[in-house]
Amino acid sequence: MTQPLPDPRSSLSHFTAQEVQHYDGRIPSLVPGYAVLHHGGAALLGQWLPDGARVLAVGAGTGADLLALHQMARQVGKSWRYTAVEPMPEMLALARQKCLAAGVPQIDWHGGFLDSAPQAPHDAAVCHLVMHFIESLEGKRQLLEGIARRLKPGAPLLLSDLIAAQPDEREALIECVTALGLPAEKAQVMRSRLQQDFFPLTPEAFAALAGGCGFTPPSLFFRVPDFAGWALRRA
Ligand SMILES: C[S@@+](CC[C@H](N)C(=O)[O-])C[C@H]1O[C@@H](n2cnc3c(N)ncnc32)[C@H](O)[C@@H]1O
Repeated sequence: MTQPLPDPRSSLSHFTAQEVQHYDGRIPSLVPGYAVLHHGGAALLGQWLPDGARVLAVGAGTGADLLALHQMARQVGKSWRYTAVEPMPEMLALARQKCLAAGVPQIDWHGGFLDSAPQAPHDAAVCHLVMHFIESLEGKRQLLEGIARRLKPGAPLLLSDLIAAQPDEREALIECVTALGLPAEKAQVMRSRLQQDFFPLTPEAFAALAGGCGFTPPSLFFRVPDFAGWALRRA
C-alpha cells in the first residue's frame, strides 16, 4: 500500500494571523542570537556569492531573511536578486511591505509552498527556522529535495532549525531566554509549545537526510542552546 503524502499545510498551524502581527517583536526573544543568525549567514553569502546572484528564501516569514541579505549585499558592494517562498499570506504581506520600505530590489514573490514555486536555478538558498515545523521525515525530505532541485551544483544552502540535542539543552534554552529578558510566564508557555509544536532532528539525522537529498555534509555556522545553523552545498 502506498503511504499518503504528508500534508504541507500542517506546518502552518503554529501561527495565527494575530500572532503574525507580533512575530517581529517576539521572535528575537525566543531564538537567542536571532539577528546574528541572519546577519552571520548573510555575511557568509557575502563572501561566497558574486554580484547578480539569485538567492532563494524558503519560509521567508516577515522578511528578516531578505532584509539581512539585502543589507549585506549592499555592504559588500553587490546586488542580488531573490525568490521568496512563503505559504502564509499574512507573513508574506508583512515581508512585502518591509522589503518595499527598505528598497529591496528584484524579489519574485511566491505565495505558497515550494513544490509549486518555479524551478529556476539559484546560486544560494536560505531556509531559517522552518523545517522544525514539518512533522514527518518525508515532509522534511520533500522540502530539502525541493531546495536541491532549485540550486545550481555547488550552490550553498544555509538552514537553521531547533535541534534534538542533549535533553539538558532544552532547559538551557529556556533559562537562556529568561536571562535575556523573557518573562517567566512566557518562558513557561514556550516550554510547553516546544514540546508540542516542533519536530527537531538530531544533527546526525539531519546530516543523513540532507546527504540523501543531494547535499554535502553540513558545516555548523551558528549554535546556541537547542538551535543550530548549517551551511551545506548542493553536491
Ligand atoms: C518561524 S518562521 C521563520 C521565518 C523567517 N525565515 C525568519 O527567520 O524569521 C517559519 C516560517 O516558515 C513558514 N512555513 C511553515 N511551513 C512551511 C513549509 N512547509 N514550507 C515553506 N515555509 C513554511 C511559515 O509560514 C513561517 O513564515
